[in-house]
Order: sequence, then C-alpha cells, then structure tokens
Amino acid sequence: MSQSGPIRRIGILTGGGDCPGLNAVIRSVTKAAMNEQGWEVWGIEDGFLGLIVGRIRKLETEDVSNILTRGGTILGTSNKADPARFAVATDDAGNPIFHDVTDQVMENYRLFGLDAVVVVGGDGTMTGAARLAEHGFRCVGVPKTIDNDLMHCDLTFGFLTAVQTATEALDRIHTTASSHHRVMLVELMGRNAGWLTLFAGIAGGADVILIPEIPYDLEAVADVCHRRAHVGKCFTIVAVSEGARSRDGGKTVHKVVKDSPDPIRLGGVSQMLAEEIARLTHQETRATILGHIQRGGTPVSIDRVLGTEYGHAAVKLLVSGGFNRVVVRQNGTITDVPISDVAGKQRLVTPDDALIRAARAVGVSFGERA
Ligand code: F6P
Repeated sequence: MSQSGPIRRIGILTGGGDCPGLNAVIRSVTKAAMNEQGWEVWGIEDGFLGLIVGRIRKLETEDVSNILTRGGTILGTSNKADPARFAVATDDAGNPIFHDVTDQVMENYRLFGLDAVVVVGGDGTMTGAARLAEHGFRCVGVPKTIDNDLMHCDLTFGFLTAVQTATEALDRIHTTASSHHRVMLVELMGRNAGWLTLFAGIAGGADVILIPEIPYDLEAVADVCHRRAHVGKCFTIVAVSEGARSRDGGKTVHKVVKDSPDPIRLGGVSQMLAEEIARLTHQETRATILGHIQRGGTPVSIDRVLGTEYGHAAVKLLVSGGFNRVVVRQNGTITDVPISDVAGKQRLVTPDDALIRAARAVGVSFGERA
C-alpha cells in the first residue's frame, strides 16, 4: 500500500454513458504505463461501482490487444454508481434509498494498493472523482462524451464518431423525405448541449436545427416548411436536440428516473414537434429518434487517435505528479486543467458561435422568428 510515494500501480475506470474510443484510451493508458513506466495497471469494472464493491482486476498486455477498433468499453461502465449518492436499497414504496459510500471506495482504493486512478468520463464522473480527491484519492481525468460538453475542452473523444453516425442517418432520412415529400424530424442526443445536433445537422444538410441553447418558435419552424413547399422543395429536414425547448417557456420532454444520479432522462421532443408541425402546416411529418445508435460501434479514426493521445497524456501527467487534473484539448494542443474546474460544469454552444453564423449563412433556420 502506498498512495503518497512513487507510483507503482494505477487503476483505470470508465464511467457514465459509454462512447466510441473508450477502448483506445484503456489500451493507450495500459501500454504507456506498463511499457514506458513499468507500472501495473488494474482495471476497475463498471465505473465507480467497481471501487464500491471491489471488482478490480490486473490488466495484462493480452487484455488490451485487439481492442483499438472496438466500440464500448472492455471494463464496463455505469451511470448509476455515484459514491456520494449510491442506491443501496428501495423503500416500501419502491423509492431508492441512497447512501454516501465514499469511505467504502477509499477503503478499496487503499486495499488494492492503487497509487492513482485514471478516470475516463464526462462531467458526472469528474464530479465524483473531484469529491473523492478531497478524501485522498489521486486521479487524472480523461474527457469522454458524445455530447462534447466538457468545460475547458474543445474536443472530447467519441464526439466525432457520434457526429459521423448521426450524419449518415440524416443522409438516409434525406432520400426518404424527398421521395415522400415529408417533414422529417431527427432527434439527436447531447443532453442540454447542442454540439452534436449542430455538427451533424450542418454535415447532414438539415434545413432546421433546433438546439437547447436557442429556444425555438414553433411558428417559425412551420414557416420554413411552408416556404420550402412554396418554392417547390416539398420536404424539410429538422435536426432536433433531445434537450430542445420552445421559446415560450416550454419545458423539455423527459422522464424522471428516480434511481439515477441524473434523474432527468430526455427523449421524445421530435414526436411532440412532428404532431405540432403537422397541425400547423398540414404536411405529412415523421419523427426518428436516433438514440443509443449514436453511442455504439467502431470509433472513427480521429477518435482512435485522440483516445491514444489522451491516454498517453494522462500517464505523463501522473509521472509529473499532476494529480486531480484532467487532460483536455485546447486549440489543437493537449494540456490539462484542475478537475474542480470541470466537475459539474457544462460547455454549451453560444448563440454567436462561428458555426451558428456559418449555418445561418447557408440558409439553416434555428427556429427563430425572422
Ligand atoms: O451523455 C451522453 C448521453 O448519451 C446523452 O447524450 C444522453 O442524454 C444520455 O447520455 C443518455 O444516457 P443513458 O445511458 O441513461 O440512456
């Protein structure tokens, strides 16, 4: 057991929703730590859950061979295992009973002799790690999410694969929309950040892009469909974020999930909008929710490269004693920031972003009144 001296053994965990490129990071961290530093690397299963229940195994070279191109995570993940608020049972009414299991996590961290942990995750995972750091946990964060909404980070790995998948879906929707002369809505993930919808919407040639950061006006969306029909373009493609809201104080379409640290599960706004647009335009409308297809499958090449780069940077940061920091990409360069600057924060699209202006220039509507 050490935890304060030189590093001999590190852990690695993947937390929150999975995304393409996780295995590239696991492979990179493991190979760089073993080959360059001579450290042992232990894989913590299912995010923080592995630290709560003590499910940790030593990784060997064979464990990380042939995983670069594989989607998902060989370690498993969980977005329910928050050490500060872990559901241990349910009461008579079926409501979860939460306990703070930080002590249990710290006990396992010490018991397994981990000198530090590479924590691969989004803002929820970084929040969990930042809290554990206050109790002596040493870590380095690697920014993962298809939402690309991590603070102080221009590009999270996984995002560009999701953009590619969503773009291909929009391309397919295009041909069927034009054949049937329909208004087709495609709902994309991203929580309350519009990055994924903005990028895929532009790449997929959407006529309307609705993102949470720019609340929409339904009449304005209907106007676009009317105007297009008027000039003989009898179909309209609407890319809509799962977190989109209307301008008149509209709420998001979501379900409340009691046993999750993030109890708001977004989804269904496209179906609601399809009905409203049909009512206002009398045009035939359909909605497609892309869902978890955006998170699955083989990472595109840049996510394999980024995952490898981030993994190596995380090990180098540990070597230099840069604990409780997150490796991030800023202006094309990998650097690092304190984990507390990232935890619990979200990087949103600003309405004057250059990309929004470029989209407007090519005729995209963001559902605003002219
Ligand atoms: O944060 C990644 C993400 O895919 C979001 O875009 C989406 O809202 C959420 O996770 C869905 O999470 P779950 O795994 O609970 O379905």
